Amino acid sequence: MNVSDLREILQYVPRFRGRTFVIAVDGAVAASKNFSNILLDLAVLRSLSIRTVVVHGASWQIEELARSRGIALSNADGTGVSDASTLQVSIDAAIRLTNEIMEGLSAVDLRAAYLNAIIAHPAGILGGTDYQFTGKVERVDTKALKLLLEEGIVPVIPPLGFDGEGRTYRVNSDNIAVEVAEALQAAKLIFLTPSTTFSNASWMPRLLSIGETDDLLKKHRPAAEVGLVSKLECAARACKQGVWRAHLLDGGINEALLTEIFSHEGFGTMVYSNEYQQVRRIFKKDVRGVMALIRQSVQSEELMRRTRNDILEHIEDYWVLEVDRLPVACVALHVYAEEKSGELACLYVSKTHENQGYGSKLMAFIENLAKEKGLTTLFALSTQAFMYLQQKGGYTEAPPERMPAARLEKYQMSGRNSKVLVKQLAH
Ligand code: ARG
Repeated sequence: MNVSDLREILQYVPRFRGRTFVIAVDGAVAASKNFSNILLDLAVLRSLSIRTVVVHGASWQIEELARSRGIALSNADGTGVSDASTLQVSIDAAIRLTNEIMEGLSAVDLRAAYLNAIIAHPAGILGGTDYQFTGKVERVDTKALKLLLEEGIVPVIPPLGFDGEGRTYRVNSDNIAVEVAEALQAAKLIFLTPSTTFSNASWMPRLLSIGETDDLLKKHRPAAEVGLVSKLECAARACKQGVWRAHLLDGGINEALLTEIFSHEGFGTMVYSNEYQQVRRIFKKDVRGVMALIRQSVQSEELMRRTRNDILEHIEDYWVLEVDRLPVACVALHVYAEEKSGELACLYVSKTHENQGYGSKLMAFIENLAKEKGLTTLFALSTQAFMYLQQKGGYTEAPPERMPAARLEKYQMSGRNSKVLVKQLAH
């Protein structure tokens, strides 16, 4: 590990300290080999004063128990009808799992509690069918959960709910997780999902805004794995209700949880409600950061050498792309108003953030900006990235004379012999 990795990790520690994360563990993940690692990771979060609530599913365990008792289930995951015998098996299997999780948490020295914090009512009659003992969350006992969290105790919540009459209902755990995260105004809701959910999910991006999630679901719903669709829906719903970020992770992979939380790029898919990525102007205080960002490419002669003063003089031309407040890419637009022409310059994406489309994003950004300014042509000089500009940006090679006269003069003096690339802007 190098220092910049460490900086990246440490940047998140104060931001998440004292915040609440709801960890939604699928029953199959709780039964997997990796679960003991997940428990260790929860202990790490606790040591950093991050408060965690564990909400667990149990359909995997319910199906197992039903099989061994020879009972036919009316539904296993709390989304369909729960008849009386299904409810009985569900309670037995779910509470047994709650207990196992409590044992696991004890083994990593975490204090944990199981409580009746989910107040439920019957799902009722839907489409003419009585869902019997399937319940819906009516209310979350936030006060009780907060009391525990303040004491450093991890609440463990099974996929069951209680009503005021002393009845138990089978409630879907994903829905409980969303309701709990909303009630506690959690900073994060993290779904730890079985590896199988992610097979055939290469269309899943790493990062989604709420709007993008809705669009994606419209497009992929018919072909996608149901489990994945419902998790994505839950993630978007949580963010709409005030949770900052919701994550979908492969619960079978050891590094997934901590990498997702403490690195910029994360590990799984994140749906976010607050500003995570933005392109913004630079200020005086950013100049040093920009110089550090491009240092490598200046050394390798990809980018022209710029002094602090060069940048300061044209500071309003420079933009950075920030990922979670860390500048990871930059670009500049130098305007030649008379010629209605602009130079796309200083385009650079940090090595650690390559291949995520940030370069294209910045090129598109500059193009829009140039159009807003009424420019008709963009040009760029390049010694090494000309293929990239041609393929991704739609630039074509042109003779240097296509540049504004003032720029041509500087070009001839620099001796860099860069290729000149031009793009005509459609208005
Ligand atoms: N570590 C940050 C967080 O936990 C960012 C994670 C980004 N993850 C992603 N899949 N893009 O909020």
